[in-house]
Amino acid sequence: MVGSRDRAGVDGCGQAVTAERGGLAVSVGFPVGAPARAEDVDPGFEVEELRRDAISVLSRNARDGYVAPARGLYVHQHLWDSCFIAIGQRHYDAVAAMAGLRRLARAQWGNGMIPHIRFEGGWRYWWDSRVWRSRASPSAPRSVATGGISQPPMLAEAVVRVGEVLPHDQRIAWYRSMYPSLVAYHEWMHLERGLDGRDLAVQIHPWETGLDNSPPLLDLLGRQPSPWWIDLIAWSRTDRLATHFRWDTKYVPADQRSSTLEALRLYAALRRIRAERYETRAALLRSPFLIQDLTFNSILVRADAHLREIAREIGKSLPPKLLAAMDCHLSTMEQLWDEESKTYYSRDALSGQLVKEPSIAALMPLYAGSADAARAKRLVEMLGDPEIFGTPYPVPSVPVRSLSFRPSRYWQGPTWVNTNWLVIDGLRRYGYREEAEALTRKTLRLVSRCGFYEYYDPMTGSPAGAKDFSWTAALTVDLLSDCHRAAPARRDSLVAG
Ligand code: GLC
Repeated sequence: MVGSRDRAGVDGCGQAVTAERGGLAVSVGFPVGAPARAEDVDPGFEVEELRRDAISVLSRNARDGYVAPARGLYVHQHLWDSCFIAIGQRHYDAVAAMAGLRRLARAQWGNGMIPHIRFEGGWRYWWDSRVWRSRASPSAPRSVATGGISQPPMLAEAVVRVGEVLPHDQRIAWYRSMYPSLVAYHEWMHLERGLDGRDLAVQIHPWETGLDNSPPLLDLLGRQPSPWWIDLIAWSRTDRLATHFRWDTKYVPADQRSSTLEALRLYAALRRIRAERYETRAALLRSPFLIQDLTFNSILVRADAHLREIAREIGKSLPPKLLAAMDCHLSTMEQLWDEESKTYYSRDALSGQLVKEPSIAALMPLYAGSADAARAKRLVEMLGDPEIFGTPYPVPSVPVRSLSFRPSRYWQGPTWVNTNWLVIDGLRRYGYREEAEALTRKTLRLVSRCGFYEYYDPMTGSPAGAKDFSWTAALTVDLLSDCHRAAPARRDSLVAG
């Protein structure tokens, strides 16, 4: 159902396969007994070798107390990266997984926001703390430097996944230690960004969605007039020259990253919210870019369910206003469904209109668990459709038939392992086990053949972006483990509602 089969004799990096790699299907939870298909017998990778290589990437990317997303290109601690990293680390070093998440929580702002980046002194970065100047906000912590916005709320998921591998007493202590931060964080998302708990959470910059330059985000950003200096650069075509001075293109070919004009528009959007000292109220009143992003809000639905579970386990009652906001948020999610095209979209928070530019975000309600069975079925059909998401190396970040599809450019087409992980989880919770296992195998095979890259061309499997990328390695460890596929029954009870 998911995607089409690998072409025999050609590996994911576009090279002829000379030797079959051995693989031990049983230990990764693939079907036991009489296998129905050749790919069940030969998963295409050696489990222990892949796991060892993945852990080695994570240890090479380790810094003082956290794991950086990638050496060179991303050296600071990023929010959702840290959560995916902890989900992998828990299988072999739960102490390090907890330490990374605690460190992230210590960067929390006074208003409850967990920032998208915690900066480390001494490391250079394209968009570093001098660009953000987030201490202009009275809510920003004084002792650590951070970005001024947030990222998709994977924290509660990571806290619960780490809790699953701990003995009962340690799990309770772990949950108790993270609970105050989580409550403040979710209150910030629902009450401050969710318009006092009456609506979906609003994101004030494309980077808050985690999918930086995905077509719907650029579409919305592009509806505003750009600053004169960007128009001038575009008109004079000096952006081509500027590309040579970019920090990121020292590590990744320019045609795999955002274009220079896109990057400048993102920077201009940052300047606007920085001028308002990252205040939600000011942004809501004046920012031309406000989105109720489908990925962010889907992850929030799931995070809320985890937070309820954490509270229940440690015998706490969540604040009534937060509980009411969570209920309202969940019931509002279906407003993002478009009956005409039978898919989900993000919403422009200013006009209230859906941004009808398709992307991988459409599949995220599976992970949320918020879609009804009929809508979930439709999403699974899209996943298998070769014109939409059913590519040889799924799942592309933009549907193949979209005019915006660019197979190796950042969030405009490539396959990413973190979104695959979210889709796999969603398929399982809706009972699409076969599809989930097929996508798991395809993902692991791709990584095994091509290495732990930031993303991959969904048509040829060619690797792209940063090399030795941490969340790719961490989620590989997780996908390889039995624990993830045979999740305890109580996880199934976390279906929203
Ligand atoms: C890119 C991704 C973002 C991620 C960051 C660090 O900016 O778009 O989601 O957090 O890299 O890996």
